[in-house]
Amino acid sequence: MTVLVLGGAGYIGSHAVDQLINQEYQVAVIDNLLTGHQEAIHSKARFYQGDIRDKEFVRSVFAQESIEGVIHFAASSIVGESVEDPLKYFNNNVSGTEIVLEVMHEFEVKSIVFSSTAATYGEPEDNPITEMTPTNPKNPYGESKLMMEKMMRWCDEAYGIKFVALRYFNVAGAKTDASIGEDHHPETHLIPIILEVALGQRDQLAIFGDDYNTEDGTCVRDYVHIEDLIDAHILAFEYLKAGNPSNIFNLGSNSGYSVKQMLEAAREVTGKEIPAEVAPRRAGDPSTLVAASDKAQKVLGWQPQYTDVKKIIETAWNWHANRPNGYQE
Ligand code: UD1
Repeated sequence: MTVLVLGGAGYIGSHAVDQLINQEYQVAVIDNLLTGHQEAIHSKARFYQGDIRDKEFVRSVFAQESIEGVIHFAASSIVGESVEDPLKYFNNNVSGTEIVLEVMHEFEVKSIVFSSTAATYGEPEDNPITEMTPTNPKNPYGESKLMMEKMMRWCDEAYGIKFVALRYFNVAGAKTDASIGEDHHPETHLIPIILEVALGQRDQLAIFGDDYNTEDGTCVRDYVHIEDLIDAHILAFEYLKAGNPSNIFNLGSNSGYSVKQMLEAAREVTGKEIPAEVAPRRAGDPSTLVAASDKAQKVLGWQPQYTDVKKIIETAWNWHANRPNGYQE
């Protein structure tokens, strides 16, 4: 039996494929390679290049493989772009998922684990955020992920397709041996941008606002290591396989770090100066987002290993320093 990974050439998907294969799962990958990198896909995975919005293509993969469940990472995920072009997000993320669910229903595949996001919560007043915190997305990206969650809930009720939605906080780092890592074009995320400055590829970090209501005035986020994050996906996959009900879990570390703290940590890890300057706020950034992830620990038995943010940055640094041009070499 095969695990089908959608978006398996992307940053998070490629780490999932790698870990699944290392744990002896049979893996098939669908990716349209619009943002993913073929080189990032483990050579033992069977790769089908195509788009999840192409129903005949998705059907052909389900017909060739004996699929026991789906892990779904295939989505557009840039918040700013989603505000400028919301229909791209509703098309790729929501319509794409709808097609996947249609084909799953047709082929009687009954479990799906999928990447949701802290952006479904919007800007909650209280932190840490639990799964009971009301959802109130503030951008089309978060809205599209919440729509995907809702669609799955109704498919569970009607067709018995069980889902686990994993609401990620800030995913960071790379595989410990630095063989795969994060490579986005354009890059918008804090840690890779800081490391690009450390490598001299950018002049300085722009700190987006230092007048937030936080200890040092910069935004606070909860960083979770990519390998810990993937562990939770595999646990969720096994949880569904064991016949458990659909569920939603936050994935974070329960502790928040400000932009300035992350910058300091990166200076220590890299030994580089990393120039930075305060810039205006970025539209739509909530001041603080910290997860309560006790539920994933209790129900799934998730035990994140990377509790020190410097260790997370170190794995990202090993990757970026090794592959300064990412997969383009
Ligand atoms: C956002 C989404 C998250 C999504 C992720 C994927 C929200 C609230 N969060 O995370 O759900 O999964 O994108 O793309 O919508 N920063 C700087 N300078 C920079 C870059 C970032 O100061 O050059 C700051 C940001 O203001 C933010 C923090 O660093 O406070 C982290 O930013 P980033 O890495 O882009 O992630 P989020 O926006 O938190």
